[in-house]
Amino acid sequence: MTQDKQTVVEQYKDSGNLNARIALHDRCSVNEYPWQRWVFDHFTCSTEARILELGCGPGNLWRENADRIPVGWDITLSDFSAGMLDDARRNLSAVTHPFTFRVIDAATIPFDAMTFDAVLANHMLYHVPDRSQTLAEIQRVLKPGGRFFTSTVGETHMRELWELVDVYRPGTITRRSVVTAGFTLENGAAQLSEWFSDVEMYSYEDALVVTEPDLLLAYILSSSILITEPLSPGQQTALLALIKARIADHGAIHITKASGLFRARCGGG
Ligand SMILES: C[S@@+](CC[C@H](N)C(=O)[O-])C[C@H]1O[C@@H](n2cnc3c(N)ncnc32)[C@H](O)[C@@H]1O
Repeated sequence: MTQDKQTVVEQYKDSGNLNARIALHDRCSVNEYPWQRWVFDHFTCSTEARILELGCGPGNLWRENADRIPVGWDITLSDFSAGMLDDARRNLSAVTHPFTFRVIDAATIPFDAMTFDAVLANHMLYHVPDRSQTLAEIQRVLKPGGRFFTSTVGETHMRELWELVDVYRPGTITRRSVVTAGFTLENGAAQLSEWFSDVEMYSYEDALVVTEPDLLLAYILSSSILITEPLSPGQQTALLALIKARIADHGAIHITKASGLFRARCGGG
């Protein structure tokens, strides 16, 4: 229940597609407390800690929390996309805290057992085809008592947006749900409990109120299912017209968001 790896590699060759989606969230989210600040609030690490992030993307977590990274954190940022890591390096060039950057596929983590006090994997486990192997790897590199933090989405996330696309591409909702179905807020705890103890879930309350049609269209076109099977120019024009009409009729398009974070502990500590 995951996309094939080549589609994920193509989607994240750099941060361009991801940034189109982040732009919509930044402009239209109703929760004024920023997502990356909220995620950081849940880190329970001592002030001296060795931390590994898997699938770090452009490093927004660290840029948006640059003012509160403890000096004693030794942080390795990793992603399987070299292009994404280049963007992370650039994005974090003004942050004074030092980072180590490494290309790493989460399924084979090139570190000794019991190296890290915490591992982070935000909005990425659903992309990993060999999730059991990846979770075993994370458990292996964590110290006993170390923490694993992983954010993801729920089944209803962005539902109304995919319903709009479904008008022009029937079946989109079903195909789109496969992208994240492997690791969601609904099924994540059961998977984590096979490898970790004290699994807790936290929900981030939010929604989108969209009044800018172009932002919504850019989000839709950045998604991997529309990159592998693009809408024709005529379908794109019609979709944009539909979005504009909905906004004109209702003042805005309201979109459900379902996001959250799991916190878990590596046994033995
Ligand atoms: C949706 S982005 C999330 C980026 C960042 N963690 C965030 O929350 O903003 C998913 C990221 O995971 C990376 N990724 C996907 N599969 C991976 C794998 N098997 N190993 C390492 N990184 C992976 C992608 O390259 C991409 O940067």
